[in-house]
Amino acid sequence: MFGWKKKELTTPVVDIHSHLIPAIDDGVRTLDKSIEVVKAFSKIGFQKAITTPHIHPNYPNTHDQILEGLEVLQIKLLSERIDFEIEAAAEYFVDDIFMEKIKKKEEILSFGSNYVLVESSFINKPLFFETCLFELQSKGYSPVLAHPERYRFLEGDIEWLQQLKEMGVLFQVTISSFTGFYGKMPQKIAKTLYEKSMVDFLGSDLHNNDQIRFLREGLQNSMVHKLCASPGLRNKSLL
Ligand SMILES: [Fe+2]
Repeated sequence: MFGWKKKELTTPVVDIHSHLIPAIDDGVRTLDKSIEVVKAFSKIGFQKAITTPHIHPNYPNTHDQILEGLEVLQIKLLSERIDFEIEAAAEYFVDDIFMEKIKKKEEILSFGSNYVLVESSFINKPLFFETCLFELQSKGYSPVLAHPERYRFLEGDIEWLQQLKEMGVLFQVTISSFTGFYGKMPQKIAKTLYEKSMVDFLGSDLHNNDQIRFLREGLQNSMVHKLCASPGLRNKSLL
């Protein structure tokens, strides 16, 4: 009534990248903290989160650890009468262990239409990344590259990303990259991917409660607003 209008938060409805199973990776440390994040997600306007603990040399989580952690979190949500849907998959670091897992046809934690979230080293371009993703595709999975805008070895050059796109790899850009939370270069690449219609999913990549305010800022960004309204963004299909 005083001409002041609270900035509107638009969300992609379903978040597909976060670290909310307590104390199994570099994400949320306790169950209470997980609950705080879930409450914040709900308040912001998300309806569901597919949380994705690392499976990485530093965090060699098993599927059982992830799914048991998910169950504990779901039970706690029920006991606190918090109506929020949460599922789990994983963020797989592409290395020889992951490659072996695929070759041996071991179970891979996927979500939606056989989507599998994968990441690479930030520093060095992985040697057999494409081979591994191709192997994954040949088993019927659809690889989703986590935060393509944040790989420092790209040095701003998106040619490698364009090649991955051509082979059918999907991209999950992190919401707060659009506002520069991760620095100028990721912000620039996020904008380029947006302009070239190369964003398939948005994700929070939330690791702790402190990042909530940066997520909120990201959700006020005009490119994020447009992506959330775009039929090309796949998040909502996961409801
Ligand atoms: Fe992550």
